[in-house]
Amino acid sequence: MDLIELKNRAKQEIEKIVDIDEIEKSFKKYLGKGGEIAQIFDSLKDFSVEEKKTIGKEANILKNEIESFFEKRKEKIKNTTKTVKQKGEKIDITRPAKKIQRGHLHPLTLAMDEACSIFETMGFEIAQGPELETEWYNFDALNVPKDHPARDMQDTFWLKDNQNELKIKNEKLKIKEGDYKSKRLLMRTQTSPVQIRYMETHQPPLRIIAPGRVFRNEATDAKHGAQFYQLEGLMVDKEVSASNFKAIVEDFLKRFFKTEVETRLRPGFFPFTEPSFEIDVKTPDGKWMEIMGAGMVHPNVFRSAGLNLSVKSGLGWQGFAFGVGIDRLAIIKYKITDIRLLYQNDMRFLSQF
Ligand code: PHE
Repeated sequence: MDLIELKNRAKQEIEKIVDIDEIEKSFKKYLGKGGEIAQIFDSLKDFSVEEKKTIGKEANILKNEIESFFEKRKEKIKNTTKTVKQKGEKIDITRPAKKIQRGHLHPLTLAMDEACSIFETMGFEIAQGPELETEWYNFDALNVPKDHPARDMQDTFWLKDNQNELKIKNEKLKIKEGDYKSKRLLMRTQTSPVQIRYMETHQPPLRIIAPGRVFRNEATDAKHGAQFYQLEGLMVDKEVSASNFKAIVEDFLKRFFKTEVETRLRPGFFPFTEPSFEIDVKTPDGKWMEIMGAGMVHPNVFRSAGLNLSVKSGLGWQGFAFGVGIDRLAIIKYKITDIRLLYQNDMRFLSQF
C-alpha cells in the first residue's frame, strides 16, 4: 500500500474538481465509509502490532491531509462560483440600453417660444413687466375709466392687505380716496401695462412684444382660466396703420400654425385703442375662436407714458397694439379640447408633446 501514491493521486484529483457535487462524490471515495482511507484502516488487522502503529499513524496523517485538500478546494470552488456568476451578469454591449426618460418643454412654453421667435424675426424686441402691478399701470394709464367693470373684485385679484395698509397710510397723509386707489396693487389682468412701462423709457420708433402671465378672477371652463398667458405687441412708427397690423398678424398666424389660416377682424372695444378690433381664427372644426384684442393706440396711452408725439412735419407717430392669448393659440395648434389640461400637470397629457 503506497500512501504517498494515494496522497498524490488524491491531491491531483481534488484539485481538478470544479463543482461542489463532485466534491461530495470524491469525498466519499476517499474519506467515506468503505472509502480508500477506511480500507487502509480495515487492512491494519493483517499487520503486526508495530506495523499497525506506524501505518495507523501515517494513515491518520494522510486522512487529515486529504481532508484539508477538500476544505481548500471547497473554498476555492465557492469563490470561483461567485466569479462565474458574475461572468453571467457581465454587460452585454449589444443589448439595447434602458431608455432614459427625457424631459421636454410644456406645450405652453413651446407655443410661447414659437410666437416670440416669429415676432423676433420681424424685428420686435422682447420687453417685460411685473405680474404684480399697480392699478395705475394696469388700468389708469391705459385709459380704462375708473368705473370700468374690469376693475371689479369679480374680475381682478386685488391685494387686500396692501389696500388696507395704503388706506391707513393715505388717511394719515390726508390723501383723497381717488388718489390712493390708483396706488393699489393687483395681479395684472393683461400684458398691456408693459406698453406704458416701455414707453416711459424709450422713444419711438418702437417695436416690442411682451410675453407673460396674466390673472383674472374668473370661473374656469374649457376656454377660460384664472391665469393664462398673453403676448402683447406694440409698434409705434410714422404712418403705421391698421393694414400694417393686419398684414403682420396674418403673417404671424400663418407661420405659427404652419398653414394658411382664415382670420376675421371684427370691430371691438378697448379703452386703450381706437379703433379697436378683435381677431378670430377659424379652427380645424370650422368654428371661429377669438384669439386676440388689438387696435390703434389711443393718444391718452401715449400721454400717460409721457410721450409727446405731436409732429409738425405732417408725418404723425402712431401705432398699433395687440394682445394675443397664448393658451388659445396652443389649444388650436395642438388640438387640445380643454384649456384646463394645460395647468393640471397630468403626465398622460403632457408626455404627448
Ligand atoms: N389687453 C387686452 C386684453 O387683455 C388685449 C389688447 C391688447 C387689446 C392691446 C388691444 C390692444 O383683452
